[in-house]
Amino acid sequence: MDIKRIIELLRHGQPGDKIQVQGWVRTKRELKDFAFLDLNDGSSLQGLQVVINPDLPDYDQTLKLLNTGSSVSIAGELVASQGKNQRIELQASTVKIWGTADLETYPLQKKRHSFEFLRTIAHLRSRTNTLGAVFRVRNACSAAIHQFFQDQGFLWIHTPIITASDCEGAGEQLAVTSLDLQNVPLAEDQTVDYSQDFFGKPTYLTVSGQLEGEIMASAFCNIYTFGPTFRAENSNTSRHLAEFWMVEPEMAFCDLQGDMDLAEAFLKHIFQSVLERCPEDFEFFNQRIDQSVLATADQIINSEFARITYTEAIERLEKASKKFEFPVEWGLDLQSEHERYLSEELFKRPVIVTDYPKEIKAFYMRLNDDDKTVAAMDVLVPKIGEIIGGAQREERLDLLEQRIQAQGLPMEEYWWYLDLRRYGTVPHAGFGLGFERLVQFMTGMTNIRDVIPFPRTPLNADF
Ligand code: 4AD
Ligand code: MG
Repeated sequence: MDIKRIIELLRHGQPGDKIQVQGWVRTKRELKDFAFLDLNDGSSLQGLQVVINPDLPDYDQTLKLLNTGSSVSIAGELVASQGKNQRIELQASTVKIWGTADLETYPLQKKRHSFEFLRTIAHLRSRTNTLGAVFRVRNACSAAIHQFFQDQGFLWIHTPIITASDCEGAGEQLAVTSLDLQNVPLAEDQTVDYSQDFFGKPTYLTVSGQLEGEIMASAFCNIYTFGPTFRAENSNTSRHLAEFWMVEPEMAFCDLQGDMDLAEAFLKHIFQSVLERCPEDFEFFNQRIDQSVLATADQIINSEFARITYTEAIERLEKASKKFEFPVEWGLDLQSEHERYLSEELFKRPVIVTDYPKEIKAFYMRLNDDDKTVAAMDVLVPKIGEIIGGAQREERLDLLEQRIQAQGLPMEEYWWYLDLRRYGTVPHAGFGLGFERLVQFMTGMTNIRDVIPFPRTPLNADF
């Protein structure tokens, strides 16, 4: 008998179809003469209603074991449902129980659990409605990202996870070492003797694949990375993870304008595509998590993003009647309260802020003619703040060397990056999208820890 996924049956199953399904029991409702199960296999928010009749062999015993959380294969015939909550249901003819779940100890009984509690049972929480919907949307987002770039001839590049350079120059890296930390070898000057370490020098988990992305764009024109990145920022916020996924396109022969155009088209495509693929999940988020989810999706797809310079943004913030916690002044970085004010209250849509002061941005950003600002761009969205950070890169060797020096970074570590400016340099630009921030924005989930299956944050690496 055909094994079917539940989403297929809900969409296309017909009365009379003889099929088999498998999954986990969400609930059991015992009536006088029979029982209903709600069976879920993760393919959709809605489960399949299964009718268990007393003419099944071992009816009483089977029914007793079919508790919430138990795993089963059930064969039978689809029939039109009398109930109003579903079009069809399954009349079970055979039930195979693979694993039972103890009623007393199984943590996911049918009631609302807080997201905080669910994080403590990350091995089971994907079986809940909300986390199930999140991870289906997350998957659809990944697929849409690849589709967007593949359709336009971008190459997907796998950049290294272990690196000796600090892309952002912010010193927020997690070290990778095979040294015995109980007995660290010291050099004569009492500093750590890294020549005895695995790679013979200090190495770290990458904060970004951009520098290697630039190498590959200098051969293939248009590339993107999509992989895990790591930051040892000690920020316990609802928008920071120590391990997060980043999407980083890089384009040769491209300036800041082209970079912004790509970012806007990219976000529009992803929203459109995920909305088409996961309509029920979106409906669920809109009803149960955040009532602006569908309106936000519509706005992303159909309205033009606002674009202003950092200098203009500072002027607007200074004029704002709102009181901010952090100071607003030309030269200071925008805090998330400022970013949110710009997109939530001032423009009421995504805003791209460009041309930040060079002192507050990374060394690789292209110096503008004013000598004070760089060709940076951040995409800010309501509720999240910065979702994308990007820039046109400094393609002029002398200016790049000056910036590396000014930021006190070790020139010798960047020799290959500088070589790209020595041999066939081109104007080029790219950006990084925080993948979890995107999923958070799309679903309305308030905490970033609930949009990645196994969050890594300060003092937490469980599961
Ligand atoms: O702005 P960031 O630091 O930019 C870069 O890393 C560049 N190298 C990207 C590039 O131009 N290729 O990070 C990019 C994005 C941010 O806009 C934010 O969405 C996300 O990555 N991000 C984080 N997401 C979750 N947790 C963190 N700790 C994050 N730090 C940055
Ligand atoms: Mg940034």
